[in-house]
Amino acid sequence: MGKDVIIACDFDSAEKTFNFLDKFSEEKPFVKIGMELFYAEGPSIVKEIKKRGHKIFLDLKLHDIPNTVKKSMSVLSALDVDMTNLHAAGTIDMMKAALEGLTREDGTRPILIAVTQLTSTSEERMQNELLIGASIEDTIVKYAQNAKTAGLDGVVCSPLEAGMVKNACSKEFVTVTPGVRFADGEVGDQVRVTTPEKAKEIGSDYIVVGRPITQASDPVEAYRRCVKEFISNNEE
Ligand code: C5P
Repeated sequence: MGKDVIIACDFDSAEKTFNFLDKFSEEKPFVKIGMELFYAEGPSIVKEIKKRGHKIFLDLKLHDIPNTVKKSMSVLSALDVDMTNLHAAGTIDMMKAALEGLTREDGTRPILIAVTQLTSTSEERMQNELLIGASIEDTIVKYAQNAKTAGLDGVVCSPLEAGMVKNACSKEFVTVTPGVRFADGEVGDQVRVTTPEKAKEIGSDYIVVGRPITQASDPVEAYRRCVKEFISNNEE
């Protein structure tokens, strides 16, 4: 599984997204389309970005009964996305159904990863509101193991959890990690953050980077810095 930097294109319109992507004349970054952009523009935004030659992580976090998820995944797969996701809380059966729906007639399919516990969920709320008695670490590990049992490729997690997930599942089990910030950059509303270089050390396969690139005065330079720190450095 190749390491890559995925840019979170958290814009509310196609126009803003294309203005941003037009800045990249040499590279074709892997981009993440989330709910905001997808709900604003519909499937056409996926097709248009794909046509421009970008790989796409469609971050819609599906969670429903297995049959509904299976059929929805089949629709998303036809959009030719490269990666998509769901909530592991939907159970192993739901994840298995998702994989079935995602697999195309020729046997190919997008990478499928699971959200374990959202990084916005604290252990206290998980225990008191969701009545999950285990620790947040044990819950994340168990959900990651469930995703592996169902045949998924990996999970979305905090870069600080990537090592724990790899230890519990396997080195090959993919970790996609948001919450990345430059050492000298602003943290914003993210709490558990780390640098691209550190995320690489811990074992992330893909880092998802939004504002440090989209809000930078020179987004292309910020993207290149991420790639350099996450992929190029310490390669030998
Ligand atoms: O701007 P920033 O780098 O914080 O963007 C991170 C992206 O990753 C956002 O699209 C956010 O929704 C997403 N994400 C996250 N934490 C998660 C899952 C997704 O920050 N646990």
